[in-house]
Amino acid sequence: MDWGMKNRLSKIIKPRDGRTVMLAVDHGYFMGPTTGLEKLDEMINPLLPYADTLMLTRGALRNYVDPVTDIPIVLRVSGGTSIVGKELLHEGTVVSIEDAIRLNVSGVAYSILVGADFERDTLLGMTKYIDEAERYGIPVLAVTAVGKDMAKDVRYLGLASRMAAELGAHIVKTYFCKDFEKVIESCPVPVVIAGGKKQPEKDALNMAYDAIQAGAIGVDMGRNVFQSTDPVGMLKAVNAIIHKDVTPKEAFDIFNSNKK
Ligand code: 5RP
Repeated sequence: MDWGMKNRLSKIIKPRDGRTVMLAVDHGYFMGPTTGLEKLDEMINPLLPYADTLMLTRGALRNYVDPVTDIPIVLRVSGGTSIVGKELLHEGTVVSIEDAIRLNVSGVAYSILVGADFERDTLLGMTKYIDEAERYGIPVLAVTAVGKDMAKDVRYLGLASRMAAELGAHIVKTYFCKDFEKVIESCPVPVVIAGGKKQPEKDALNMAYDAIQAGAIGVDMGRNVFQSTDPVGMLKAVNAIIHKDVTPKEAFDIFNSNKK
């Protein structure tokens, strides 16, 4: 692995413990003004001290983030379908590698959907982007999803994660599931979990803890942070699970004490 690739990966995954707290706020690229992100800058500015990496779109980066920032950026470079369209996640490339370089990103994120008629399009799109990104030493995070009729279980999430890694992704993002350690064991690159739909804070903290215990290296969490009753408290609590190995109960106490 070349120096640039290693250097950028070390901005995303903290070398001190090999873990990462990624804050995902890219939802607008297919969901529009998502609850909590209407004024994206106001939401994320107080959160940045507790995030290792910010994952977002180039439009959000340009319009809402001060260029004089030291938060490493993972830029979403796939898109093209919306939550109200007929083929959610039938995505292609929406940002050139040149623009990703111009924006000085530490990594890029590309979605694949395994188990839909158009899976081939997303897989080839990601693979082509990996070829381009590798030319410049930029790591690619594969955001994996499975077809809507497929269970989000170890079989299908394991399939999508392994495929993403075999196709060359440097980090894989997937959903947490029962027997998650099997997804980790069969995926040769680091895995982070998505938060998914908003759930009670206690449950989201339990999920993050269980994912780390199973071998995930962190989270790439969005709605469970920015839709929380206390986003800063929630991200502090998640950060403590990832970097300080606190229990879910201790993390929940961190969340509650922040409110006070
Ligand atoms: C969607 C994404 C989102 O960034 C991610 O899944 C959102 O995180 P969360 O599910 O925690 O809100 O990549 O494809």
